[in-house]
Amino acid sequence: MPRTRCRSNLDDVAILEHDESDTRALTQQRFDRMTLAGGDRLPEVDLAGLPDGPTWPALVQTVALLRFRHWFHPYLHKKYGDIYTVRLLPKGRPLIFFTKPEHAKEIFAGDPEIFHAGKGNAILGPVMGEHSLLLQDGAEHKRARKLLMPAFNGHALRTYQEMVTEIARDEVAHWPTDRPFKSHDRMNVLTLEVILRVVFGVTDEKRLAALRPRVNRTVNVSPAVLMVWTIPALHRFGPWKAAVQNQMELDELMYAEIRERRTAPDLAERTDVLSRLIREGEESGDRPSERLSDTELRDQLVTLLLAGHETTATALAWSLYELGRDPELMRRTQAAADEPGPDGDAWLDAVLKESMRLHPVIPMVVRTLMKPQTVAGVDVPRGATVGPSILIAHSRPDNHPDPERFDPERFLGHNPPTNTWIPFGGGVRRCIGAGFAMMEGVAVLREVFKAVDVTAVGTDEPLVRNITSVPRHGARIEVASR
Ligand code: HEM
Repeated sequence: MPRTRCRSNLDDVAILEHDESDTRALTQQRFDRMTLAGGDRLPEVDLAGLPDGPTWPALVQTVALLRFRHWFHPYLHKKYGDIYTVRLLPKGRPLIFFTKPEHAKEIFAGDPEIFHAGKGNAILGPVMGEHSLLLQDGAEHKRARKLLMPAFNGHALRTYQEMVTEIARDEVAHWPTDRPFKSHDRMNVLTLEVILRVVFGVTDEKRLAALRPRVNRTVNVSPAVLMVWTIPALHRFGPWKAAVQNQMELDELMYAEIRERRTAPDLAERTDVLSRLIREGEESGDRPSERLSDTELRDQLVTLLLAGHETTATALAWSLYELGRDPELMRRTQAAADEPGPDGDAWLDAVLKESMRLHPVIPMVVRTLMKPQTVAGVDVPRGATVGPSILIAHSRPDNHPDPERFDPERFLGHNPPTNTWIPFGGGVRRCIGAGFAMMEGVAVLREVFKAVDVTAVGTDEPLVRNITSVPRHGARIEVASR
């Protein structure tokens, strides 16, 4: 396998005290392992007795689910009822969707040794790495989750808030007031900055400048490139060559940051997620095996980046768009932004939650069964996949009356009944960054509405982009200084 990195690209970044060939070898090992693994082999699944669903070819159903899910889910729900089966590539493998809160409860409470979530994310392996929290299952997942959790608890979140606020204030101060712009683009820039500074803890301007484009290229890597990454011969050509080179360079920067941080004199006082993870490993790691290795740290950081960047940006962009369409709600949000403390926060929190209800960023979560199980009365064979449809859970009138209406009051001072609002999934796989996303969202909304009036420009609708659903026209807004 040829090495395709162009060394000179990173020459001006002061990072290379370590052996550069060493980090390239780590990246190469990741690619090789993903190539050898070649995806898990699951058994053929007997489709007899599964809930009804369309009989179209698997290719058509796969495309409908991946590209046209905003039409496909409601169609399936209307035609087949509360539980329906779609058959997907490869080999018409069944994916059974459940739409009622009690169904979601059963799936989220399923034994994690049997209900695997990592399998469905295997395609992200070459980028996220085998240690990624999103890719692991069973004992490995439990261990990684335990090490990551303290960096996302309430105490840790409070220490991130100030930096998020500063980044948001700076971003809003640079918004144009003489023309409309895509709020989704600006929110993507903002949330990336939050990941780089608050999660990775990078402060060196040169390194930040080197990281930004490489991180952006990683986030934007096309599913078509990922799908055939396991064929090493392709790595010498076109988009694969560029993706491999980008990964080599990104890894080099990240390993440099990780190694320097381990020996940083201020490690004990630092509040960023990476420093916490290093400390957590050292404090809880009587046994060296408990500590997170450089490779594990890299894999988890890239996972946090990919899972936490565009998702949060999208929730924020929809919030701005919806508030920008309703002057009364906008004024109420400005009043909340001006009011420091829990009452103001409660309204901003409700805005964000309602935005994620009406525009779910991720449409479904799935678990693949390692043993036959009965789920909501359905006998599901080993190898089949089950999942709650977030899209339907959020749009059922029995869960949320008048579901098409944007109304933050639904969430003000109370939560809706359990499992009727599930934008972050649930159970032991519930989004580890949920609290982080809410803290970040509230801080950003506060800074935006303290500074400007927001008006939505035109209408928008969801567009499928990889696994997330983003505003097709970028949630365009106009702003004026208050
Ligand atoms: C509005 C923003 C976000 C949304 C809508 C969202 C949504 C989700 C969903 C639906 C899952 C799968 C849950 C399941 O399978 O039950 C998930 C998992 C995950 N999310 Fe988020 N997320 C957001 C923000 C974040 C942030 C800010 C981070 C980190 C900084 C993050 C990190 C993760 C990780 C690491 C996982 C895997 C958890 C595991 O498998 O144990 N997410 N997220």
